[in-house]
Amino acid sequence: MNLSLIARTIHESATLKLNQTAAQLRERGEPVIHLGGGEPKSKAPIDAIVACTGVLNTGDVKYTPSDGIPALKKAIIRYTEEHYGRGVQPKNVIASSGAKQAIMVLLHAIVDPKDEVVFPAPYWVSYPEMVKLAGGVPVAVKAEDGSFCPTLEEMEAAMGSGTRAVILNSPNNPSGVMYTPEFIAGMVEMCERRDVWLVMDDTYNRLVFDGRAPVNCYEFTRADMESSKLVVINCVSKMYAMTGFRIGWAVGAAEVIQAMGVIQGQQTSSPATPSQWAAVGALNGVQTSIEALRLTLENNRNILMDHFRAFPGVKVARPEGAFYSFPDFGAYMKDSQKLSEFLLEKVRVVTVPGREFGMEGHLRISFCGAAKEVTEGIERIRWALDPSSPNELYLGDRRLVRDWL
Ligand SMILES: Cc1ncc(COP(=O)(O)O)c(C=O)c1O
Repeated sequence: MNLSLIARTIHESATLKLNQTAAQLRERGEPVIHLGGGEPKSKAPIDAIVACTGVLNTGDVKYTPSDGIPALKKAIIRYTEEHYGRGVQPKNVIASSGAKQAIMVLLHAIVDPKDEVVFPAPYWVSYPEMVKLAGGVPVAVKAEDGSFCPTLEEMEAAMGSGTRAVILNSPNNPSGVMYTPEFIAGMVEMCERRDVWLVMDDTYNRLVFDGRAPVNCYEFTRADMESSKLVVINCVSKMYAMTGFRIGWAVGAAEVIQAMGVIQGQQTSSPATPSQWAAVGALNGVQTSIEALRLTLENNRNILMDHFRAFPGVKVARPEGAFYSFPDFGAYMKDSQKLSEFLLEKVRVVTVPGREFGMEGHLRISFCGAAKEVTEGIERIRWALDPSSPNELYLGDRRLVRDWL
């Protein structure tokens, strides 16, 4: 078939594909442990459900302005004031179908063909493909020292006259690291000096551990809203465990937000109306669920680290936020795709190959599931890889024998 260049070159989302594989295996009754997921297990806040069912019960569910209902914009404005200390206007806000769409329409609004978009590695799987969808060229920057955050010098060395934008995601998917305030301040300064867009993907901004405070990028700029090329992305997906509602947003200068609204209006129109009301309910309602989730994740992170400590040969940086870790399994197998397939086949544990995030030898291991699953998943991985573990393992009543080492 004569498919387009884009259809032939864009890769399928590895994480979404793995979700499908895990679901299929579970349907067949396989004892799968899913450590590849990207969503909290908790339920959406009751205020979100009430607001959503409220509009559904009227039966009056119609198109809305394509950049979002006024009530949602108002809630986002309040959120921005409370968590970023920034007063913004409705013209500075657009609601989209998830942070993913907010980033995609933003890229469409700022990237011309062959423009470069720079981001640190490891990076969220979708950035390179989204940049390509917008006609741009993704440029991933790896830290020379193998850490999960390049230096400012390394970032600047990757930028040139073709650089149109930088994307930063902290806390980071897949590594769980938080970039330091100094790094973010340096990137704000660098992007302003070079007149480059800076996209702050703050999807996990509220989910940080060990008493840390989320880093607020606005603290590092004196530019006024309308002349600033800083755009902040957020969503209800992770912090309120509302991934399926598909509501995210962008806050930025009116000119770029308006351009995004025009593009979104031609793409999908507004996000789904009941979902917008659900997001209003979540943002305006009782906020205790975020802290409950944060505490659960921090506890899971601690459990995960305890188990990794007893795992010889695996190097893992302590996640500081989000719900991902990015251990280095290179001592066992360099090819992360093969390793991930091996673990799924042998011990039915789903992980995501580090290659998808721009770093070989690593696996992304999520800890957003139940603590029991995290524990069992890592223990199964250790059993599969560590030659000093016992020769057999029971998955329910199924006896596995290690015959591959
Ligand atoms: C870094 C990052 N940005 C954006 C998104 C997309 O969020 P949403 O589900 O709201 O589209 C994700 C989802 O995994 C993510 O990890």
